[in-house]
Amino acid sequence: MPKNTIKDVAAREILDSRGEPTVEVTLTTSSGVTATASVPAGASTGVHEAYELRDGDKKRYDGKGVLKAVANVIGEIRQGVVGRDVEDQPGLDTALRELDGTSNKHRLGANAILGVSLATAQTAAKATGLPLYRYLQEKFNLPKISPHLPQPLMNILNGGRHANSGLDVQEFMIVPHVATNNDASPVAAWVRVGSEVFHALGRVLKKKNMDTDVGNEGGYAPQLKSNSEALDLLIKAITEAGYKPGTDVSLALDVAASEFFRHGHYQFEGKEYSSGDMVKVYQSWLKDYPLISIEDGLAQDDWRGWQELTQSLGQKLMLVGDDLFVTNEDRLKLGFEFGAANAILIKPNQIGTLSETISAVRLAQSHGYKVVVSHRSGETMDTTIADLAVAVGAPYLKAGAPSRGERVAKYNRLMDIAQELAK
Ligand code: PGA
Ligand code: ZN
Repeated sequence: MPKNTIKDVAAREILDSRGEPTVEVTLTTSSGVTATASVPAGASTGVHEAYELRDGDKKRYDGKGVLKAVANVIGEIRQGVVGRDVEDQPGLDTALRELDGTSNKHRLGANAILGVSLATAQTAAKATGLPLYRYLQEKFNLPKISPHLPQPLMNILNGGRHANSGLDVQEFMIVPHVATNNDASPVAAWVRVGSEVFHALGRVLKKKNMDTDVGNEGGYAPQLKSNSEALDLLIKAITEAGYKPGTDVSLALDVAASEFFRHGHYQFEGKEYSSGDMVKVYQSWLKDYPLISIEDGLAQDDWRGWQELTQSLGQKLMLVGDDLFVTNEDRLKLGFEFGAANAILIKPNQIGTLSETISAVRLAQSHGYKVVVSHRSGETMDTTIADLAVAVGAPYLKAGAPSRGERVAKYNRLMDIAQELAK
């Protein structure tokens, strides 16, 4: 008999950082251990993502309510998982998948399923007295926790669907590399430098009389004429903060190109571009700016384009597939066949269970693809992704700007972990 079985599962509708409803789940074990987890939500979601169940009742939350998903958790899912060993995460995730019975979690909702999956891991970690990253590493037989913790990819200038900046590129990110002996840990240094550059960008914008309000992921969202203007502002902010672009702080982009791909063309900066034209844009940016990574440089089903992009820039840049792979092993395998991308963005809610998420990470790593663990644009205070990034040895954690509670919660958790590991 397992000593800690699931005794109860509760769920509720809460608000995410955009003020839209999402699912929160609380699990309780037979020995009285309890933990809560909540589910994030995207705005620029890929078409191949697992299904997010929303009520569609226009009278509530403009149709975005999640009462059906909540009802599925406290009804069918609760019935299916009560009595299970809370420490059998793989078994529980398989049971959840089977209970749903569809290929994309359409019946019960990936948001309902992920809430239970995450709450189970949180509760089990607590029950075993281990920090979550350690529990996951042991449970899934992952390699020893690396002392090199994930580097933050910080989105300090928001475009695309996350803001009204008029920019096609969705995320302009900084990647701090520097640390001093005064910093508590390399992670603490990266967070500090990221924050200093973020605030320097605020001063640069203010001086130019530009808007200093922030977008969905906590980054600034000024009205700009071109994407290269945004890149220039980032360089200025890095310099203004006293750092050397490229040496101390690099740049990364999430183009989210599926969002402006229409009828076989990229509608980019007011013109119609082919995949090849987009590749040329990236080549020229790479000459002018210290870029180390481009995510979703092309659209989610433009496999031939991705092949060309990877052949052309894959040796020089990390090319991350987000909408392209949607944390889905079948999509990732297609990527291997095409030679598309060399890194994968990992978002648990794109696939719906923690076990499938970790399995996708392993598949990527076994093929030499880098792993970037990521938040969503609609977030909560849940910090599971920081632990997950550490557990799987991801080189990067992408959690937005170093600003706004739901973003900094992840970076703060990463600093906690760094301190704990340094003991
Ligand atoms: P999303 O954006 O959460 O709105 O999908 C994040 C991303 O595209 O990486
Ligand atoms: Zn993305």
